[in-house]
Amino acid sequence: MPLETVTKIAELRERLRPVRQAGQSIGLVPTMGYLHRGHAALVDRARAENDVVVVSVFVNPLQFGPKEDFASYPRDLDADRKLLAEHGADIVFAPSVEEMYPRPITTHIEVEELSVRLEGERRPGHFRGVATVVGKLFNIALPDRAYFGEKDYQQLQVIRRMVADLSFPLEIVGVPTVRDVDGVALSSRNVYLSPVERAAAPVLSRSLAAAADAIGGGTVDPQDIEAVVRGVLADEPLAAPDLVAVAAADTLEPIDPKAPPPSIALMLAVRIGRTRLLDQRVVAVP
Ligand code: PAF
Repeated sequence: MPLETVTKIAELRERLRPVRQAGQSIGLVPTMGYLHRGHAALVDRARAENDVVVVSVFVNPLQFGPKEDFASYPRDLDADRKLLAEHGADIVFAPSVEEMYPRPITTHIEVEELSVRLEGERRPGHFRGVATVVGKLFNIALPDRAYFGEKDYQQLQVIRRMVADLSFPLEIVGVPTVRDVDGVALSSRNVYLSPVERAAAPVLSRSLAAAADAIGGGTVDPQDIEAVVRGVLADEPLAAPDLVAVAAADTLEPIDPKAPPPSIALMLAVRIGRTRLLDQRVVAVP
């Protein structure tokens, strides 16, 4: 079946109504486009688990701060369509900002606590913008399952919590981070990196690997784990850490070394030049 492009909310609902009525399942992959192999892994998983796969491509202004890169965020719908066709998606939903927000939005989804900690503290309003658009996409597509990358680990936890709190009738599927051969997590923002900066980027995954080794060796004090990560990052002069977070993997609560959680989430935001890169790793406590 060739890939269909839909730009209107009403049209997508019309297209999906008979799918649901026929008892077929719908998988939704929400994206901001400029798709790479990380997104392809989400689409492949959705393809394997659903009858119809919808991929949304929408750079959501609500989740960008005033000084962030909304205007310059990379966009290439033709290339996205090519990748989606190759991976067997059925429908790309690519609405305009006017279609999604015909007037200023006054209703938001705020996942309290989880949204304002860690990355949320550094990007005020970001997770509110994410939760609001994702809730809206769920109401538009009414999917059975929705797919998100683990790379944006806090985002995934925010969405899981929103779905649980508001009883959205769908399953959230987290998909492991896809990496280049040198360990760099794939991200649409990697295009901003100069060759020299790109060569520095593996330091993120290296620092996470060192912390995973330390946890494997019995280190559970979050300060000690953070020191291991910062020690590796300090070896790379181009890397400026913005967030080094060590938290309980399922709740993102701080860790009490006397009662460590079953697994620990390590989350990083590191500036390399003007680009802010994210990475994460979840490590089981032995
Ligand atoms: O992860 C992203 O690309 C975005 O935050 C999402 C989930 C598509 C919401 O705009």
